[in-house]
Amino acid sequence: MLQDILETLERHEEFIRSVIPLIASENVMSLTARRALVSDFGHRYAEGLPRKRVYAGCRFIDEIELKAIELAKEVFKVEHANVQPTSGSVANLALYVAFTKPGDTIMTLSVKDGGHITMNRVGLAGRIGLNVVNFPFDAEEFNIDVDKAEKLIREVNPKLVFFGGSVFLFPHPVRELRDVAKEVGAVTAYDASHVLGLIAGKEFQRPFEEGVEIVTSSTHKTFPGPQHGIILCRSEFAEIVDRAVFPGVVSNHHLHHVAALTIALLEMKEFGREYAKQIIRNAKALANALAEEGFKVVAEHKGFTESHQVLVDLPEIGGLKAEKMLEEAGILVNRNLLPWDKERGRDFRDPSGIRLGVQEVTRLGMKEDEMKEIAKFMADVLLRGKDPKSIAKKVAEFRRDFTKVHYSFDSGEAPFI
Ligand SMILES: Cc1ncc(COP(=O)(O)O)c(C=O)c1O
Repeated sequence: MLQDILETLERHEEFIRSVIPLIASENVMSLTARRALVSDFGHRYAEGLPRKRVYAGCRFIDEIELKAIELAKEVFKVEHANVQPTSGSVANLALYVAFTKPGDTIMTLSVKDGGHITMNRVGLAGRIGLNVVNFPFDAEEFNIDVDKAEKLIREVNPKLVFFGGSVFLFPHPVRELRDVAKEVGAVTAYDASHVLGLIAGKEFQRPFEEGVEIVTSSTHKTFPGPQHGIILCRSEFAEIVDRAVFPGVVSNHHLHHVAALTIALLEMKEFGREYAKQIIRNAKALANALAEEGFKVVAEHKGFTESHQVLVDLPEIGGLKAEKMLEEAGILVNRNLLPWDKERGRDFRDPSGIRLGVQEVTRLGMKEDEMKEIAKFMADVLLRGKDPKSIAKKVAEFRRDFTKVHYSFDSGEAPFI
């Protein structure tokens, strides 16, 4: 049994080493950051803020958490950071606890337009009794419709105007809507889970400069840290945010993950700009190469993307079948609901689209030339009818050259990557 468990872990790692990982919500940590995950911090508790703990033995834990807070403030140019949410969902729960009560209205992106379940009726927001009103969405522009949103905000008086989402090609119109949010007394928040690594590298958008008051996020998508969460805000909100996190929604805050996050923050301070720039170059290169291969890539007239994501519309094959065929060929992607799927009679089980993210392959050192290779592999499978198994062999060979985590302090190969 024990041998089985260990072997299954090894088989998974061997499998991951042989595929092209294009899941937009994942990434790899450096070996340096992973060192923290097996540290003794993973056995301890440290409830409360650093130096105000309600546990003994926290001297070194305090030191690291204070460094994480300082680094986060520096990297994101913000007055306050709380590194205790244990995930992006927990960060959003803390946001709701801090600024809303059951029955209040919040405005968010719908799931069909790319909003996350935690922001919607079907998930966390609805389950804790919030009244969710969705931003009007302009499918052609693939963004929030500013004029309609302005009207709707005045009409429904939300307590929270919450930008961000899981399908996120273009910066959200924060500057355009912040005044109307203020006018109705709403807090302006932004879920940066997908784009935190881009924001750390000064790309995509600058939420705080544009008028956001609170940023919630997970730390493991474009931001290449551990599976964890973070909240960033202006100092006027520091106390309410800190108290919503603890004692509001966490007890143990997974201290080994905080330590890994500290290392990832240092990596982003040092290498973040170069990393974020390359992600965006790679996303544009992949989108262009896919379009040249004959795929219908979403938002061509807008240059396809300004983030790590690329969306491909596959009405004939369908997202589910495309995902399965690509998996067989060693290319991991997600099927993805597109805003026009309802009109096509499709839903989340078999939507029209697939969503690709280039952050992980960028971290593994791939550049524009490799994006062309990836587009070719995908076209071989989905457009030219080649046998996925034969492509999988080529993919595994292609992948052999990319075994080191770049934009990190690691030296040499990462044996588990
Ligand atoms: C926009 C957004 N918010 C929140 C989350 C939840 O983050 P976690 O999986 O860390 O709970 C996700 C995860 O996919 C996300 O895309």
